[in-house]
Amino acid sequence: MKSENLVLLNQFVEENPSLHSENPVDILSILKAIEKASTKVHNTINRAGLLDVLGAAGSENIQGEEVQKMDLFANDQFIEALKDCGHIAAIASEENDEIISLNTTGEYLFATDPLDGSSNIDVNISVGSIFSVFKRTVTGEVTTEEFNRFGYEQILAGYVLYGTSTILIYTCGHGVHSFTFDPKPEVFALANPAIQTPENGNIYSINEGNYNSLDKGIQNYVTYCKALKENGKRTHTARFMGSLVADFHRNMLKGGVFIYPATADAPEGKLRLLYECNPIAMIAEQAGGTATWGTERLLNIKASDIHQRTPFFIGSKNMMKKAISFLS
Ligand code: AHG
Ligand code: MN
Ligand code: MN
Repeated sequence: MKSENLVLLNQFVEENPSLHSENPVDILSILKAIEKASTKVHNTINRAGLLDVLGAAGSENIQGEEVQKMDLFANDQFIEALKDCGHIAAIASEENDEIISLNTTGEYLFATDPLDGSSNIDVNISVGSIFSVFKRTVTGEVTTEEFNRFGYEQILAGYVLYGTSTILIYTCGHGVHSFTFDPKPEVFALANPAIQTPENGNIYSINEGNYNSLDKGIQNYVTYCKALKENGKRTHTARFMGSLVADFHRNMLKGGVFIYPATADAPEGKLRLLYECNPIAMIAEQAGGTATWGTERLLNIKASDIHQRTPFFIGSKNMMKKAISFLS
């Protein structure tokens, strides 16, 4: 069992300035804030059954969803850590109706889903924290409209997955880097400097409870995934955890496609552009995969609302080509 020769985040960023070309010093500072917040989330989630953090907080967010106690805890940790870091001018968070102004002199905007899949906490299933960073183009007080940016403008994006181990995955547009959390002495150490996703795969991930309200093309794709080989064996396997980060991460490593389309319950799609789809799409592209809102590239959408939703199709290149071929 090793534990020596760990490459910690500081070292990785300092030794690889070309992978962090926007500004390695600022990026490291923002990543350190993310590490700090997610360490607190990790520690709390891991003792959740012993603390008063399970269950609903008793309120709804602006999207009419039940807020969990851990949503609020995670949100507070990110806000506090990012405020201290000094580089973030404002945050758009799933848990706040309006943007939160932090430091007028900050040069960056931060969007976050502080706890993704939070209803899974109570049943001990993986959850995540998702983050996205834009460089500001103006100075002074931040306005909400400043967040109306194209996804391809992100300079840093990624997620923390609190799974069987806790990992931090990020990209600055030069590949996807992963770090594993070592709980003693609470550090994130390099696990893979350049994750690539398989071009093919056999996992399809969609909430089939929505099947009857899906567009015909998507229904046909699901039927295609269920087709059997000549020998009667399956061609695909289905996986859907209800935690986007966990579903995406598994598919990125193993090869698969994740689809959250428009449904009767969520006519514009369920997932949010700024703090769920954009950052995960950037990771997917950097790993060699594809992300769309249908037939078009997701990162080409210009946001018009911090909480806007979008249909989301993401995964391995060749599987995505096949899935898209079913859309009219
Ligand atoms: P959040 O917990 O941040 O609200 O996100 C939950 C999301 C996402 O993680 C997942 O893919 C999706 O909701 C699942 O929704 P359904 O179970 O309604 O299909
Ligand atoms: Mn989410
Ligand atoms: Mn959330």
